[in-house]
Amino acid sequence: MDAETKAETGTASEGEVPALFLSRVARWYPQREGRLEILKSVDFAVWPGEIVALVAPSGTGKSTLLHVAGLLERPDDGEVYVGGEPTAHMDDAGRTRLRREEIGFVYQFHHLLPEFSALENVVMPQIIRGLRKAEARERARELLAFLGLADRLSHRPAELSGGEQQRVALARAVANAPRVLLADEPTGNLDPQTSAHVFQTLVSLVRASGLAAVIATHNHELARRMDRCVSIRDGRVVELALPPAGA
Ligand SMILES: Nc1ncnc2c1ncn2[C@@H]1O[C@H](COP(=O)(O)OP(=O)(O)O)[C@@H](O)[C@H]1O
Ligand SMILES: [Mg+2]
Repeated sequence: MDAETKAETGTASEGEVPALFLSRVARWYPQREGRLEILKSVDFAVWPGEIVALVAPSGTGKSTLLHVAGLLERPDDGEVYVGGEPTAHMDDAGRTRLRREEIGFVYQFHHLLPEFSALENVVMPQIIRGLRKAEARERARELLAFLGLADRLSHRPAELSGGEQQRVALARAVANAPRVLLADEPTGNLDPQTSAHVFQTLVSLVRASGLAAVIATHNHELARRMDRCVSIRDGRVVELALPPAGA
């Protein structure tokens, strides 16, 4: 089955299941007159090991889409499947558990805990999930070393550069080995060179761990390096062919 058919149906041969699948997802905000429809009918599948760039102008619904996909918000209609598991019927506790186990989120601003070290920030979600402290610390050390931060473990966020803070946020997001990584303009706040570096690190990490990733970005140059680009048009997710570099 080709990628397009897979994206449309969210099913594949050989029992393969999308890491993430949004089916006819709608999200709107009530207005005085009618609704402000942001997502009208989103069908969107992301497969294990795939990195997808989400490139769309500001205000088109990228954050809304990622929040719904990440179970941070409920859709007003449609269904979100994580690893083939439908989520609409779940109560908030069930969704929180699933999010903790299966989804990593990186924001434009790092949202690290300011009073805690880089290491502790990456240990924390693992402890919440129920891992023993020694194991959590070992995993955090490995991840931070992979991201080039082996000599920054005891630094607090304020003692790190913007790029370093985002790499710690990245380590935190994947600390529990999620199935899906969602990143909302993760380098939008960084200078171009730092942005490229964080990006490269992100891609290496995703490649090494085989998780699925959706990365919202305005940066076409970086988006081109991903497996696939999509956009949001008229409240739907559409495939996007970016013009070649320099065009
Ligand atoms: N709580 C809300 N109430 C009403 N409108 C909202 C709310 N949150 C977002 N919006 C609107 O939804 C649209 C999409 O927002 P967003 O998903 O943040 O876009 P993007 O991330 O692509 O910039 C915007 O026009 C925004 O004004
Ligand atoms: Mg946004």
